[in-house]
Amino acid sequence: MSQIDDVRSKTDIVEVIDASGVSLRKTGRSFVGFCPFHPNSHTPAFTVYPDSQSFYCFGCHASGSVFDYVMRKQGLDFKDALEHLAARAGVRLEPKGDHERQEDARRTRLLEINASAARYFNYVLVGLARGELGRAYVAKRGLTPETVESFQIGYSLDEWAHLFAYLTDKKGYPPEDIEAAGLAVRAQHAAPAAAQGASPATPHYYDRFRGRLIFPIRDAKGQVVGFGGRALGDAQPKYLNTPETLLFKKGELLYGLDLAREAIRNEDRTVVVEGYVDVIRAHQHGFRNVVAPLGTAITRSHVALLKRLSQNVYMALDADAAGQKATLKGLNALREGAEDGEGGHIVATAQGAVRLESDVSLRIIKMPEGRDPDEVIRADPDLWRQLVVAAVPVMEFYIGAYTAGLDLGDPQGQRVALDKLLPLLAELDGAQQRVYIARIEQVIGIKAELILDLLRVGSGRGPGIGERGPRGRGNRQPPTPNPQPPTLNPQPPTPNPRPLASRHREDYLLALALRHSSVVPVAVEALLEQGLEKFPTVREMLGSGLEDLLEDPANQQIWATFAALPIDGRPTDSAALAAGINWLEEPLRERFLAVMASIRCHPEDFRYRQVAEDYARSLRIEQAMRLFRRLNAQSVVVDNSDEQQHINSLRDVVLYYAGSLQQPRRTNTFPDLRDTLGKA
Ligand code: UTP
Ligand code: MN
Repeated sequence: MSQIDDVRSKTDIVEVIDASGVSLRKTGRSFVGFCPFHPNSHTPAFTVYPDSQSFYCFGCHASGSVFDYVMRKQGLDFKDALEHLAARAGVRLEPKGDHERQEDARRTRLLEINASAARYFNYVLVGLARGELGRAYVAKRGLTPETVESFQIGYSLDEWAHLFAYLTDKKGYPPEDIEAAGLAVRAQHAAPAAAQGASPATPHYYDRFRGRLIFPIRDAKGQVVGFGGRALGDAQPKYLNTPETLLFKKGELLYGLDLAREAIRNEDRTVVVEGYVDVIRAHQHGFRNVVAPLGTAITRSHVALLKRLSQNVYMALDADAAGQKATLKGLNALREGAEDGEGGHIVATAQGAVRLESDVSLRIIKMPEGRDPDEVIRADPDLWRQLVVAAVPVMEFYIGAYTAGLDLGDPQGQRVALDKLLPLLAELDGAQQRVYIARIEQVIGIKAELILDLLRVGSGRGPGIGERGPRGRGNRQPPTPNPQPPTLNPQPPTPNPRPLASRHREDYLLALALRHSSVVPVAVEALLEQGLEKFPTVREMLGSGLEDLLEDPANQQIWATFAALPIDGRPTDSAALAAGINWLEEPLRERFLAVMASIRCHPEDFRYRQVAEDYARSLRIEQAMRLFRRLNAQSVVVDNSDEQQHINSLRDVVLYYAGSLQQPRRTNTFPDLRDTLGKA
């Protein structure tokens, strides 16, 4: 039996889920509860099947085994989830296959070598007479002994094989392993002049890091996986890093994360800076939530690491011309990453922050011209504090960056700025689009209506303004080729071309809900929730349950009566529904039969879930547009201008909400949820 099977067989999914805080109720052979993975509070949508040891949510379609559950609920990868469940079940895990064992051993050896090297570099800096140059540099940069210790900063002598000799002669590590750790380089041809006089037949190795201040790079667990070495003078390159090795994956590491974890959690915010010294300086001054990528842009892996600790990511990147370009490049890399499935895509949140990967809100710390965090903090820690507080949402940053240096009094300048900003605007959701259109109107001086028009045109004209258009895999937008931004056109949208009258749609939706009562009501509720998360006032006005969609009072009563039946007691097929009509009061029975008849007239029962969602959406849009017209009419008759403003803003929110529903979103969202499940 494999270890995974062993853990599986000793684990009960019901217990695990129950213990994780989801209270479950037994119904028949399965258990139900409220889904922990999507807003779910009306009808329990989350079902756990002890027989197959699996779970499934009828609302958001989250599904899988106990491993999937733990990965998703606790944000673990498979290996960690396995360990967690193994510990719980009292199963001792051992690396299994030969290959895996070998790989583990190799990894362990490289870690050992790195740890030795880090200790040695540090010893050279702190304790060796010949380390004086390093000590002088550290002193010049104002790094304290405590800092040197906690970051285990070191120094490599300017010799060809100082470390190599130590690791081989004193520690007995094989040269190939030292090379594999990235610490030694094998000489290609002739041995370097000073290499240790070995015979020409044996390969020659020399130290990769020579005459540099050494920053050991540790992973989140604190293990040394690589090194960065800074030249003391003007030698090039200024920074030399370990090449990619079995242990060192630049795109997955953040410098300082091992020391920053706690602070990031506590402050609920990560600050990302550019360089080693920026991180070190920040920590030395007590700003401990600071990390840096290793000379690369922020990647999706970085975000995945960070978002487990906090959703708030602040980026402090140089504000000088080059730095700002680099920042834009970094941000663009993030956005572009979304296209090939590597990055996240940027969406605005209600707070005006722009989210990445829908989980991270990104703000930009604007650095004073030509100074990096190291310099700012060293000179004036309070200024740094203020800069962090003043960080702006990334969209705001773009507006500033793309208008800098342009003459906005000149239509040409306005147009240049707008061309850059429109693709970004197109990525925002409706409500935020509105916020930033207003903002751009204010900054650039182009009328909001015109911006909206251009946005609409842009989304239809291929490359150019709308070039970003829809995103590829992993996005939460519908896959229609050209998503239309919500418009200000007060015409009721007609997303559903089906020539059925609205009343019939309501009847049919109700019939489906009665007939497929374990699926349709939760699907409808999830659909409504999905559209409502950004519109709390609309939720108050329109509600978010299936019952809130029904206009006909008889329909409302039928549903209320049915929903009040205990889950076990609900009829589950048409025959039982019709036969068991005595659950309904006499006056409602005729209506009920008419409702149920609508199923028979309808040929598409096999895709009932899809149809129910389509109908719920179109009923909802009609309902919202009725409310819109009511508010509009009201706005005209009130005479108090405050009151009027209030009504107008409600009215606009309702309109935007209706606009946001025009495209079927959720069916396209679920595959994403499953994607993230697999990758978490
Ligand atoms: P900077 O040149 O801005 O470094 O590079 P810095 O942190 O301000 O360094 P000091 O203050 O002059 O010592 C920022 C980061 O870019 C990467 C390193 O990770 C560095 O910390 N970098 C830079 C390299 O990888 N190689 C280089 O040659 C230069
Ligand atoms: Mn610097």
